[in-house]
Amino acid sequence: MAGADASAISVGRIGVFDSGYGGLTILRELRNTLPEYDYLYLGDNARAPYGSRSFEIIYKYTLEAVKELFSRGCPLVILACNTASAKALRTIQQRDLPEIDPSRRVLGVIRPTVEILNDVSASGHVGVLGTPGTVASHSYQIETVKLFPKMTVTEQSCPLWVPIVENSEADGDGADYFVKKYIDELMAKDADVDTFVLGCTHYPLLIEKIRKYAPERVKILEQGRLVAESLKDYLRRHPEMDCRLSRGGSVEYLTSENPEKFDSLASVFTHQEVRSCRCSLD
Ligand code: DGL
Repeated sequence: MAGADASAISVGRIGVFDSGYGGLTILRELRNTLPEYDYLYLGDNARAPYGSRSFEIIYKYTLEAVKELFSRGCPLVILACNTASAKALRTIQQRDLPEIDPSRRVLGVIRPTVEILNDVSASGHVGVLGTPGTVASHSYQIETVKLFPKMTVTEQSCPLWVPIVENSEADGDGADYFVKKYIDELMAKDADVDTFVLGCTHYPLLIEKIRKYAPERVKILEQGRLVAESLKDYLRRHPEMDCRLSRGGSVEYLTSENPEKFDSLASVFTHQEVRSCRCSLD
């Protein structure tokens, strides 16, 4: 078209992905810290939880979700899921992105969490609570040793915490047993732990019970704020990405499951009314 600026950059939303509802705890903090951007949330609820699945499956599902968000115009995708960050992020960054579109970016939640551990833990002994997949990958240990070689990271798998949250049982009496069980197992492995990392984006919904059973001196780290601050810093350092992000303060939700089902539980995470649309991933 005559007069059109052929070099104009098309802008898009920030994609936020989780296997289910957990990433909503990250999205909430992203919107608090960076309210001017537009967000597109995708929960693969039909195939959640990912936590006990194999590397191949978590990688396949995560890549499908990233491609879906790219196809909807997102220049940047946040894997708001530790399991996907642990099992799929590196392969997607190193192998898939150069082929799909080297100008787009996919970022995870583990690195921003690890970066502040040295500031928080006085004893240098940190406990990471995560899904079986995240713990089996040892991503927290590996990333922490790179930055803080003297720090001790003890990982604890909590296989039933995500199902408890996804089934709206986080406030129920039955949850107490399994919250206490995994915390006791972690402390039995290393009594010097003075900091817990909630290494799964579902776990903030169990925070009251985690506080109840954690030793009093233990600090509990939720990831939302850390990821949001890290993204703010990233966008400051990468103006070439920042200028590709649309700014309208909007949010849209996609789920691979039934939207009504998603909306009713999602509002527990967001403290707001949610209206999602169905999106097929396979
Ligand atoms: N919310 C995801 C995480 O942060 C895990 C949930 C799942 O098991 O699918 O690890």
